[in-house]
Amino acid sequence: MLDIAYADWLNLGFRWLHVIAGISWIGTSFYFIFLDLSLRKHSNLPNGVGGEAWNVHGGGFYLMRKYNVAPEELPKELHWFKYEAYFTWISGFALLAVIYYWGAESYLIDKEVLDLQPWEAILISVGFFAGGWVVYDLLCRSPFSSHGLLLSAAVFALIAFAAYFLTHLFSGRAAFVHVGAMVGTIMVGNVFFIIIPNQKKIVKSLLAGEDPDPRLGAIGKHRSTHNNYLTLPVILMMISQHYPMLYDNRNSWLVVTLILLVGASIRHFFNLMHTGREIRTLRWQWPTAAALMTVLIAFLSWQPKTDSVAKIEVPSVTQVVAIAQVHCASCHAQKTTDPDVEKAPGGVMLETASDLRKHSAGILKHSVLSKSMPLGNKTKMTSAERQALGAWIRAGMPDSN
Ligand code: HEC
Repeated sequence: MLDIAYADWLNLGFRWLHVIAGISWIGTSFYFIFLDLSLRKHSNLPNGVGGEAWNVHGGGFYLMRKYNVAPEELPKELHWFKYEAYFTWISGFALLAVIYYWGAESYLIDKEVLDLQPWEAILISVGFFAGGWVVYDLLCRSPFSSHGLLLSAAVFALIAFAAYFLTHLFSGRAAFVHVGAMVGTIMVGNVFFIIIPNQKKIVKSLLAGEDPDPRLGAIGKHRSTHNNYLTLPVILMMISQHYPMLYDNRNSWLVVTLILLVGASIRHFFNLMHTGREIRTLRWQWPTAAALMTVLIAFLSWQPKTDSVAKIEVPSVTQVVAIAQVHCASCHAQKTTDPDVEKAPGGVMLETASDLRKHSAGILKHSVLSKSMPLGNKTKMTSAERQALGAWIRAGMPDSN
């Protein structure tokens, strides 16, 4: 009989596509933002050209020119950039569905956070993606939109609110990927609902021999700038899955706000640099990003030294193995007993003392410093049990005491 792990293969396929589509999208997006900012004006540019830039790449020289609204005559062949964004979203949503909807009970829901049924959790998840876009779009159309900084602050607040609610609805890991996916949806929404339709309208008026409305291009540019500043934070939210220390704490929504500020500061540095500013005049962006990152690391590493922590006794090896048998071995064993887990995930077995020694770093990371294991805390592991595991590992994993 074929023993096909469907979820794993779909996960692999969608992830492969998602990463490649995402690289293409961000690559073109970074390039066009750079190009736009590097355009220079001079006196003998053709009519309607706002600036030009010379690029060298792959053995040749390119002369890039930007027609601010549109050329007088439409070229025969015009290259559009949109499928990178669409495929990034489609593959990303498919990947999210395979992991978090198919495996809702293990990955999406954390009963200690909120006791949801899978269908409820999935509905909330979809609601966040749609709702995030609708609110963002309304903000951009509101009177705020003429004040760039105010609008940015409102979008920042929207994401912070969403992060707050998501971390109080889903598992920490799911909450982080949802913030990333919600922001990603906003970015793709900008391409699909605003930037490309506006560009199509411009093309249509050109074909009809009319003068296109310059506002259409300006709105597109505005949305595209938002996308640009959101790129770095979104990537971090996506890879946060590998770093439980980011999402596994009570105030992880604050982590999201710091990540937004760090990512946007770094992006701002590059944007200013591309306009031709000398690097030494750009004094504040990197120090700000570094300072915020230091705050983030300190915030996540700070542990209150209570007496109960200090007094924890090093348990015996028998006690530790017993804890693992109850809380880990249903999934991490030669013969698993959890109905959802056929083989020990990642080949990590946690049945004997030598297993525990071998994987002590992983145990510390996933079950002591964070609560990402047991998955969805299915076995209801207590803090005392986590501290006992931690005390044994930190004491050098003695055979007896
Ligand atoms: C309900 C099933 C289940 C239980 C119970 C469980 N795990 Fe896991 N564990 C998984 C799955 C699934 C993965 C694969 C990683 C993923 O997809 O998140 C995993 C991965 C791991 C990893 C490897 C992570 C990596 O970096 O690749 C470690 C370490 C781990 N678990 C430790 C533990 C410990 C310690 C316990 C008990 C305290 C435990 N697990 C209980 C399902 C479980």
